[in-house]
Amino acid sequence: MESRQTREARIAMVVALLWSRASASMGNINIYWGQNSNEASLPNTYASGNFEIVMLAFLNKFADGQTPVLNLAGHCDPPSGGCKSLSADIQSCQSRGVKVFMSLGGAVRNYKITSVEDAKNMASYLWDNFLGGQSDSRPIGDAVQDGIDFNIQNTTAHWDDLASAMSALSTPSKKIYLSAAPQCPYPDAHLITALQTGRFDYVWIQFYNNTPCLYANDNATNLVNSWTLWTTSIPTAQTRSFYIGLPAAPDAINNGGYVEPDVLISQVLPKIKPSSKYGGVMLWSKYWDEQTNYSSIIKDSIITKPSLVEVPSLAYV
Ligand SMILES: *[C@@H]1O[C@H](CO)[C@@H](O)[C@H](O)[C@H]1NC(C)=O
Ligand SMILES: *[C@@H]1O[C@H](CO)[C@@H](O)[C@H](O)[C@H]1NC(C)=O
Ligand SMILES: *[C@@H]1O[C@H](CO)[C@@H](O)[C@H](O)[C@H]1NC(C)=O
Repeated sequence: MESRQTREARIAMVVALLWSRASASMGNINIYWGQNSNEASLPNTYASGNFEIVMLAFLNKFADGQTPVLNLAGHCDPPSGGCKSLSADIQSCQSRGVKVFMSLGGAVRNYKITSVEDAKNMASYLWDNFLGGQSDSRPIGDAVQDGIDFNIQNTTAHWDDLASAMSALSTPSKKIYLSAAPQCPYPDAHLITALQTGRFDYVWIQFYNNTPCLYANDNATNLVNSWTLWTTSIPTAQTRSFYIGLPAAPDAINNGGYVEPDVLISQVLPKIKPSSKYGGVMLWSKYWDEQTNYSSIIKDSIITKPSLVEVPSLAYV
């Protein structure tokens, strides 16, 4: 017979284990990488253990007859084939459970989709060059991205067609995740039609560079109202699909939105975590995170603790 103490210790251990496993999936940090050559490498990014998804930023020139161009700032030169060595780094991330998405768009607005046909062509290009297809160019080599991120900040037409065309390429054996990074004023003119298709797995709302919905003057009202409107208006393909997108340092953005980590933890997260759609925090960007350690400071606070009734297998103890 096992003693009462041993049994209690064993129960405590199982509860702790289940608790940590359950919490791990209930609040993640995702981060943009690629727009600053002084940021650490992708292996360093997964080694921190802070991130679930890394978005490569940006494929910022494409469609309307243009040969698409990936831009990774000074990290490497994609057009000359100089970024193919990233493939091994991306595969290392993936082997450690960190997903890697290719992000389309960004603030340099050299992109648009001009027709349904253009959307289909772009989807084929993405498939051949970054996903499961084949092409001679493959700017970042053989690595297969886990998803495509729509960080679209220009034009309004046909992003829904691109989302549909991407979804059509996703299969049960190899899912292509779709994420979007709308600006916080609802509805975002560029992405609203695409988001209304319900095909997106994740939505990271950019709570920066947009005055009407930022945390400001110790007041989270506008941010929380915007969060609530987004999370109750947009259908998504996953349950915990909405992320609060924030700059990781004051200088990461030009027009407001930085929230000190302690303020995020005490004033903002308690108001958005109760939402059943809450997925965690998106940060712009890896470089800025290294200047502040933002992700390390907040990581224990982004988790929503499940209630004990959600812990499934106590009966087997
Ligand atoms: C697209 O970008 C151009 C150049 O920055 C800008 O003038 C235009 O207003 C943008 N259009 C939309 C719909 O965002
Ligand atoms: C916070 O902001 C909202 C919206 O602007 C405003 O109605 C409210 O009075 C503000 N609260 C405080 C305490 O200033
Ligand atoms: C961030 O954390 C690292 C490792 O703990 C430390 O060396 C560095 O000084 C920290 N930077 C800041 C800005 O706090």
